[in-house]
Amino acid sequence: MGHIIATVGKGGTGKTTLASLLIRHLVRLNKRPILAIDADANDNLGDGIGMKKAGSIAWVTDDFFKNKANFPEGMTKETFLEQQLNLVLTEGKDVDLLVMGHPEGAGCYCYINNILRAQMEKLGTNYPYVVVDNEAGMEHVSRRTTRRIDTMLLVADFSAKAIKAAGRIKEVANELALEVNRMALVLNRAPADISPLAKAVEETGLPLWATLPNSAAVLENDIQGQSVFTLPDNDPVVTATGELVGKIVKG
Ligand SMILES: Nc1ncnc2c1ncn2[C@@H]1O[C@H](COP(=O)(O)OP(=O)(O)OP(=O)(O)O)[C@@H](O)[C@H]1O
Ligand SMILES: [Mg+2]
Repeated sequence: MGHIIATVGKGGTGKTTLASLLIRHLVRLNKRPILAIDADANDNLGDGIGMKKAGSIAWVTDDFFKNKANFPEGMTKETFLEQQLNLVLTEGKDVDLLVMGHPEGAGCYCYINNILRAQMEKLGTNYPYVVVDNEAGMEHVSRRTTRRIDTMLLVADFSAKAIKAAGRIKEVANELALEVNRMALVLNRAPADISPLAKAVEETGLPLWATLPNSAAVLENDIQGQSVFTLPDNDPVVTATGELVGKIVKG
């Protein structure tokens, strides 16, 4: 199984941007192929890395339940579902993308979540690195989107609330005894002087692995609908995430 990196944290703090940048650096470091997993029902990791999804797990399962009877003769429905799920992966030159998606109608994510986890475990062995972008909050942590995480990055913007939320997610992961090898805090959109929130950071008990500045280029990129691959190498967020990837890869 490859090294699994997951981004978690409060809404809008930069999880998807960070996951996308991690993928960019891993590609540059030749740690290919990389498996990118979008475990946020409102998926947008594909936009971040400039890939258009060819399908999602939810599309397959919705279709499966709608057309119950319509699978080829001589094939069990389990085999059919498995075959369809194998087609969900969006293959790219350096990166393959697996999207969970959202099932139609109301209902529980448990089903597609379990499929996602099974697919991840099956596929993960083919990739040296797997990057999982999660939805906001801690529900997915209790849903156990992933069985095992090697590096869990708790993303917070420069606010006491987001930093506290990161600390709480850490607690939940510990309480549930999730198999997480290490957890680290990433402070996004932070000023050069983080001392006003240094105490809040300390109280999380998390090691601070990166502080990323606010970047006009990152924001502009988002507005223009460009992927992180178009950001200049010398953008401060690009260099800071490069150092972060160095830490992850080394350890
Ligand atoms: N360092 C940064 N400088 C400038 N803009 C940033 C930075 N990091 C993130 N952003 C912008 O902030 C917005 C939210 O970022 P992003 O989508 O990565 O957050 P998220 O945590 O994935 O959100 P969600 O919880 O909705 O999934 C985006 O418009 C993104 O471009
Ligand atoms: Mg996101």
